Amino acid sequence: MKHTITHVRGRQIWDSRGRPTVEADVTLAGGARGRAMAPAGASRGAHEALDLRDGGERFGGFGVDRAVAAVNGEIARTLTGRDVRDQAGLDSALETLDGTPGFARLGANAAVAVSLAALHAAAAAEGLPLWRYLAGDARVRIPLPEVQIFGGGAHAGRRTDVQDFMVMCPRAATVRQAFEITADVYRAAGALMEESGRLAGVADEGGWWPLFASNEEALETLARAIDRSGWRAGHDVFISLDVAANELGHGDGYRLPLDGAELSTTQMVDRVAGWAARYPILSIEDPVSQDDVAGMADATARFGQRVQVIGDDFLVTNAERVRKAAAAGACNAVLVKVNQAGTVSRAKAALEAARALGWSAIVSARSGETEDVSIAHLSTGWDAGQLKVGSFTRSERMAKWNELLRIEEEMGADAVFAGAGALPASVAETLA
Ligand code: PGA
Ligand code: ZN
Repeated sequence: MKHTITHVRGRQIWDSRGRPTVEADVTLAGGARGRAMAPAGASRGAHEALDLRDGGERFGGFGVDRAVAAVNGEIARTLTGRDVRDQAGLDSALETLDGTPGFARLGANAAVAVSLAALHAAAAAEGLPLWRYLAGDARVRIPLPEVQIFGGGAHAGRRTDVQDFMVMCPRAATVRQAFEITADVYRAAGALMEESGRLAGVADEGGWWPLFASNEEALETLARAIDRSGWRAGHDVFISLDVAANELGHGDGYRLPLDGAELSTTQMVDRVAGWAARYPILSIEDPVSQDDVAGMADATARFGQRVQVIGDDFLVTNAERVRKAAAAGACNAVLVKVNQAGTVSRAKAALEAARALGWSAIVSARSGETEDVSIAHLSTGWDAGQLKVGSFTRSERMAKWNELLRIEEEMGADAVFAGAGALPASVAETLA
């Protein structure tokens, strides 16, 4: 009885880019309430569930009136009276109500806000933090953070072709220490840019805005920033890239305007493999575009033994795409963005498909975010092992990192940091 959903309420709020987004509240008969907010991507895969926007002139077309109306109308009517503990049942009711494969009618922004809000309400009804509600009795790890230092691509006026230049600290003892090292590197990178007259503010996810003459110069500057921070590149701190190559597709191949290069698939993989050979790179996301299965398989065969090869736009948090990629030898890790899937259950299915293959998994934010910290709990409670949130500035990012610190404190003496163990086994072995 206390778990019965009595109210579902949607409203328009504003995200970190000043664009409208959907917030949902789910209230239960016992008085517990859950709240969640939909994030929004800028470099999106064509196979993602649909982020429904109103179009037209208002708010640059980014309005969410239709998605909010769906929450307050059809979705509220469908979920009211149901038991909130049945997440799978709620999520499948949302899918059935929508009637399309990718929430094209109601909007995945409506679905994800409601699905997550229901999950929060269920945890609240038990009086548990969300990570603990998800973990049950299982021992789960604090995830290894992937933190952006330079933000490029679609998040910085395409100032670099590669979208994210990030760092990882798999040898840190705790997440607290990983953040301390990361803060040193972020500060050192800013100082280096200031000295060279290249400080130009920050990109969408809070990383430094990259004024570089080539993609490799960004890598070189990041390696120097790590040295300058006093930590050792390739020992304490490793580089992680999100190429987001979907944005670079051009005809049958790729175009990297900053490098003045037009590349075939093989040449694109050559270029990324060259970076991986010359810099202490531990992880590479979307080195090729969403449908370039041969390119992704080539990349995985060439450097997947020592580098985590993540599919984001390539896999779009879809269990079926994960299994198909594995059959083709493409990727060894999945990025999990709940809004790419539309519901908590679908996102978890993608994570479980990856886990069954021995892959690693990274729960991820979007470039458009809010103060919602659900992903800190999902990455921990699901024991995903890794979390990607953006940079180490701006409170829509820091809210998630700070929540991990609170979770670590709640775990007390039981807290275990995933560290290198979160990486694919062959990659983790290179660190042993
Ligand atoms: P997006 O970028 O949220 O703009 O899609 C994040 C990513 O590519 O990982
Ligand atoms: Zn990505």
